[in-house]
Amino acid sequence: MTDLKPIPADWTYAPAPESRDIVTLAAEYGHFVGGEWLTATETYETIAPRDEEPLARVGQATPEEVDAAVQAARDAFLNGWSSLPGSERAKYLFRIARILQERSREFAVLESLNGGKPIKESRDVDLPLAAAHFFYYAGWADKLEYAFPNRRPKPVGVAGQIIPWNFPLLMLSWKIAPALACGNTVVLKPAETTPLTALLFCDVLRQAELPPGVVNIVTGDGRTGAALVEHDGVDKIAFTGSTDVGKAIQRRLAGTGKKLTLELGGKAANVVFDDCALDQAVEGIVNGIYFNQGHVCCAGSRLFVQESIAEPLIEKLKQRLTTLRVGDPLDKNTDVGAINSRMQLEKIEELVAAGQEEGAEIYQPPCNLPEKGYWFAPTVFTNVAQSYRIAQEEIFGPVLSVLTFRTPEEAVEKANNTPYGLSAGVWTEKGSRILWMAQRLRAGVVWANTFNRFDPTSPFGGYKESGFGREGGLHGLEPYCTFDDSETFGG
Ligand code: NAI
Ligand code: MG
Repeated sequence: MTDLKPIPADWTYAPAPESRDIVTLAAEYGHFVGGEWLTATETYETIAPRDEEPLARVGQATPEEVDAAVQAARDAFLNGWSSLPGSERAKYLFRIARILQERSREFAVLESLNGGKPIKESRDVDLPLAAAHFFYYAGWADKLEYAFPNRRPKPVGVAGQIIPWNFPLLMLSWKIAPALACGNTVVLKPAETTPLTALLFCDVLRQAELPPGVVNIVTGDGRTGAALVEHDGVDKIAFTGSTDVGKAIQRRLAGTGKKLTLELGGKAANVVFDDCALDQAVEGIVNGIYFNQGHVCCAGSRLFVQESIAEPLIEKLKQRLTTLRVGDPLDKNTDVGAINSRMQLEKIEELVAAGQEEGAEIYQPPCNLPEKGYWFAPTVFTNVAQSYRIAQEEIFGPVLSVLTFRTPEEAVEKANNTPYGLSAGVWTEKGSRILWMAQRLRAGVVWANTFNRFDPTSPFGGYKESGFGREGGLHGLEPYCTFDDSETFGG
């Protein structure tokens, strides 16, 4: 231990680009309806956010095209899928999981190309978790009576599923796997900026020989999403995205009898007590907010530090930020990739400017951002008041707001002072304090001495304006089932 040498300040990594040759893109994609490609009547261009390179043209589905997809899903539901024994449905889900594993490099490269996230993350997080969700729900397909003892679960029917752009393939698997396990059929709409892995997934469905119409994929923006929400033939809507759109969907569905789950925004508190393992906490804070450029609904975007350790912690955090490598998503050494879209970049820039105007102090490590494409440097704000927009609104970018507290009671009060309630983090050596905090934090998930940890067996979802319903785990089956006793259970 005596001769530890400091790392030279000019330590750099050689470029380590992942080859994109494994991905073959068509010039144009249609909609995947009834197991066939339907030529799109309207199309738009999807690009790579790292350099704005056009990648392909994809369909902007019209209400008529959405209608064709819903009809195909209804036919598949009535003509075999819903009456198939669970053990048979499971076989398809297991196949899909295995094919995703086999083709994971191809999917990871495409995910990073179309969405901007670092290949390290799509390769090591998005893809393994997407496959794991299919494996997990495959296991439930023939055991639903055990998931709901004495309640005789039945499928709901046709599920309309609308997903965002931050974890495109992973959100697809969160939606499709439980729906199929319970015997439903699906019309899924990926986000407008990241349709390509969902379209490649149609190839997996064909490889798995999933019966035509069980899964249908239509691409397009919010207009396509709205057409799906409004379609009379849809029995259930599952939505992940912004709170504003979530509220609009809830208003639209009120009184229709359609089932609904909403997974919306967040402004998670990451609470650090003075007895925590400081270096470990710094890693957790970095993972909490800079993972996936902060495009994470459960991101630890509000850091609450106990006052006595605020100074050393912020110092360590800033130092750590200087080692984050921001750049090409396809480089294996990249920690922070490209911002997903111009629109999202503008939103981040607007909120960061508001933070400066309101009086917070900004820190960004020196980094050379590429000229083309959408980029934002990792950012920390100190001197933040609870009333500032950067402490209240979801930024959905690599921007951390640091606030302080003195007592656990104050930490809880400040952490809960938000319209959201999706996740929270607690860093302390004391087990009893973890439990005390977890009981009081109004958040669907509370991580202790870790952050952004996901597992298909664990339910995920929100309180308050972060939405309702749970995805993942046994809880994630319920939104895709109806019960003869549903009146008694409010289901
Ligand atoms: P958004 O809520 O507009 O988009 C999410 C999905 O909903 C997309 O597939 C979109 O096409 C669809 N959609 C949009 N309008 C719709 C409508 N009227 N009916 C049905 N579907 C509709 O989110 P957007 O505009 O991409 O991002 C805005 C902000 O929302 C972000 O800055 C972030 O703060 C938040 N957001 C939160 C997410 C989360 O995981 N909780 C995911 C994406 C965005
Ligand atoms: Mg929007």
